[in-house]
Amino acid sequence: MKGREPGAGSSLVGAAADAVARRIGSIKPQVAIVLGSGLGDVAEQVRNAVRVPYADIPGFPQPGAPGHKGELVAGTLQGVPVLVQSGRFHLYEGHPAAVAALPVRVFARLGVHTLVVTNAAGGIRRTFRPPTLMLMADHLNLMFRNPLEGAVAEGEQRFPDMSDPYDRALRVLARDFAGHAKIVLEEGVYAAVLGPSFETPAEIRMLERLGADAVGMSTVPEVIAARARGIRCLGCSSITNVAAGLSAAPLSHEEVLAAGRQVADQLATLIGGVVARL
Ligand code: HPA
Repeated sequence: MKGREPGAGSSLVGAAADAVARRIGSIKPQVAIVLGSGLGDVAEQVRNAVRVPYADIPGFPQPGAPGHKGELVAGTLQGVPVLVQSGRFHLYEGHPAAVAALPVRVFARLGVHTLVVTNAAGGIRRTFRPPTLMLMADHLNLMFRNPLEGAVAEGEQRFPDMSDPYDRALRVLARDFAGHAKIVLEEGVYAAVLGPSFETPAEIRMLERLGADAVGMSTVPEVIAARARGIRCLGCSSITNVAAGLSAAPLSHEEVLAAGRQVADQLATLIGGVVARL
């Protein structure tokens, strides 16, 4: 299938990793952080930042979604070497899941052992009061796409275990820190859908019955690829709106971005707190 090979091909992963390594020089990132829509604050906190535009990385497309830049930012956060992905590749832009997961495979090549993923999501659990943060406890892959489809990539297994997608110990750490920092942190199951249309009220009722607490259009391909490489993951959703049909208001991406900005500083504090305690 056209487009599948670019993400999975180990030579492309190697070429992209080499290009990034050349640019970031002596920085050896241990933690990678993927920023969701309107959640750019973390990138501003990176010290001694080296920015690598996607145009300089083989295989990285330009991000098309509003609110997504197109660069990796390497440096230190709380003294820990990190790599921040500012701008992700969504399946709804027409990218194969393997392209959405390409940055994660590159991070693994560069020696990253922990992945922090963030996203904007609609709140399904009736007690959620957006804007608020939700730790991802688990996910439902309703994109019906998988970045591991096709030939087994170098360093990965055919059938990776997914029984602990979001690391328990990291979640304990995040909850403890949020408690001390007085950050309200919900926890729940994220349903990933293809998008780009928002859901219908009937779809939200279906997702609620399936056990979803929040719904979004990203993150799951990255987490699957990370687990296939043995990278531990921490996920945090910014619940930017009440999901369709649960309030009278129509949904818009502008609302999502504006609400994301309101909790972006809390999210940045939370991520900094977790990274400092790894
Ligand atoms: N649905 C899907 N994705 C989203 C939503 C939503 O309500 N809000 C932010 N991302």
